[in-house]
Formats: sequence, C-alpha cells, structure tokens
Amino acid sequence: MKLSTSSLIQSALLLAAYYIPVTAASDSESLAPCVARSPTTGLYYDLSAISLTPPESKDGEKTHKGGPESWHARGHDYPSNFTINICAPVVEELKDVVGVEKARWKNVSAYYELDGEVYSIGQQASDPFFRGRKLVLNYTDGSPCSSDSYSSDVDTRTKSSIMSFLCDRDAHASQTAVSYVGTMDECTYFFEVRSSVACGGMAPGPDGQGLGPGGVFGVIALIAVAVYLLGGCAYQRTVMHQRGWRQCPNYSLWAGMVDFIKRLRLYRLSITMSGHWTFISPLPLYY
Ligand SMILES: *[C@@H]1O[C@H](CO)[C@@H](O)[C@H](O)[C@H]1NC(C)=O
Ligand SMILES: *[C@@H]1O[C@H](CO)[C@@H](O)[C@H](O)[C@H]1NC(C)=O
Ligand SMILES: *[C@@H]1O[C@H](CO)[C@@H](O)[C@H](O)[C@H]1NC(C)=O
Repeated sequence: MKLSTSSLIQSALLLAAYYIPVTAASDSESLAPCVARSPTTGLYYDLSAISLTPPESKDGEKTHKGGPESWHARGHDYPSNFTINICAPVVEELKDVVGVEKARWKNVSAYYELDGEVYSIGQQASDPFFRGRKLVLNYTDGSPCSSDSYSSDVDTRTKSSIMSFLCDRDAHASQTAVSYVGTMDECTYFFEVRSSVACGGMAPGPDGQGLGPGGVFGVIALIAVAVYLLGGCAYQRTVMHQRGWRQCPNYSLWAGMVDFIKRLRLYRLSITMSGHWTFISPLPLYY
C-alpha cells in the first residue's frame, strides 16, 4: 500500500475542514440575541454571559428572595445609584415606574430610584452593535424626560441609556463593573461596562458560546500535527529518498509502537485463552 504526500495533504485538509465550517457557516445566519460580531476583526462578542436571570419559581413568576442582584453603578455626584441588567430586564421586581404602563414594568432593563420613585432609563433590548471599534448597547423608552428644564412645551422624549463595553481580560465574567459616566440633560444616561465578555471570541458555538480555550488549543494542535506530517514527508521524500509508508516522519518509531500494541493484544489474547488473568505484563515477550 502506498501513501503519497498528496493523500496526506488530503487527510490534513479533511481534518481542518472539520473546524472551518464552524466559522464560515455562521457568517450567513443571523446572530443569537445579545451577540455582536466585530466588522473589523470578525470576532464574536457574546454578552449573554453577563445577562443576569432571576431564579424561576414553580409558577414561573420572578422571585427575588436571596437571588442574584442586577449590576449596580454608583451615581457619585448624581443623587441616586443605578441598577442595570445586560440584554434582559432587571432581576429586581419593580412597581410604580414613573410614566411607564404596568404591562412594561417587567421589561425595564435599567432604572434608578429618587425620592422613593422608580425611574426607568430604558426598556429591555438585546442587540448590541459596533460603532466603529466600540461595542455599544442602548436601551430606550424609559420614563418621560422632565420638561421643566427646557421650553414650556411638553417634552415627549423618554429616558434612555447607552452602554459602552470595554475588554478586561483579567476579570472573571462575574466581576463585571458597570460605571456611570454621565448625563447631560437627565434624559440620556451613559455607562461604561468593563468585562471579560467584551474581549471577543473566535466563533459562536451551537449554544452561542465562543470557541473556548480548549477549542483554540485543539485547532493549534491539529495544525501542529499537519505541519509535522507534511514537513516530515517532504523531508523523507526529497532528502532521504524514501517511498511508500517509509516516507512518513519517524516511520520506524511509529511502526515499532504499532508492533508493540499488536504484540500486547496478542499476548493478552493468549492469556485469556489459557485462563490465567493474573499476569498481564507484556515484558516477558522481550526478555
Ligand atoms: C449608592 O451606593 C453607595 C454604596 O453602594 C451608598 O453608600 C450610597 O449611599 C448610595 N447612594 C444612594 C443615593 O443611594
Ligand atoms: C417584554 O420582553 C419580552 C421578551 O423580550 C417580549 O416578548 C415582550 O413582548 C415584552 N413586553 C413588552 C410589554 O414590551
Ligand atoms: C440604539 O440601538 C439600535 C439597535 O438596537 C440602533 O439602531 C440605534 O441606532 C441605536 N441608537 C443610538 C443612539 O445609538
């Protein structure tokens, strides 16, 4: 049996093709909610890892007893702190949100409390996008903006917020830091979110996750094996003038290994046949 270099190249390509469709196929299909793809680097950013979900009770109602809390941002010079969730409504159960009808209370994704009143600064949205190299997410349709600081016209605008994501490789996803940056007219609020999920991944898997470190390592190992096979074959063929199986790199080593395994199985087989199970060391074959 002859094994030519071209058939080796073919098998290496086949192996590589196993990984490539993962990235190529997802180009055409639309992205999962809360996932953005950078047009410049092609990396995927899955923000759903920092989207907090309340523990579901049996009747499917939100329960907030002892469960996780949404992300908090200190207001500093603003008279209140902010509570925010990413791509999902806040975990906290809200009541009497100023200027928002009851049906939409459960969809508020960011709010603050002032003088005992709850003000929404945006309804749930889950389509982050890239503005240049900046990954941003915005929430709109919050409480009405107060009009008294403007003209006498009734202000029909509603509060909204915009979040800018920054990559922090050292932090775990649970250490996401949301910082309040500012508001010019108490109508649009600007936040900065520092998290490891904003660093991007190779490809979204079937469950929307990026290709993890294990997957990346697998691809690298595969490439290394392909380079070893192809480079070794080229060397054996052109420099050592070997043909057939002998042009495989380290042919004698591999052949010896295969031989060893064959003998091992043969030896075990013979033990099984003779009914003695106690001694299975293959060493006596060699001594
Ligand atoms: C905001 O939070 C900080 C600590 O988390 C707290 O000390 C401060 O009183 C809060 N401010 C308001 C207005 O609730
Ligand atoms: C609240 O959000 C859910 C999930 O995105 C959506 O299906 C529902 O229509 C929203 N409700 C309102 C009142 O916007
Ligand atoms: C808010 O996000 C939507 C997509 O979800 C986008 O079309 C719109 O331009 C954004 N608005 C701002 C002010 O960034």
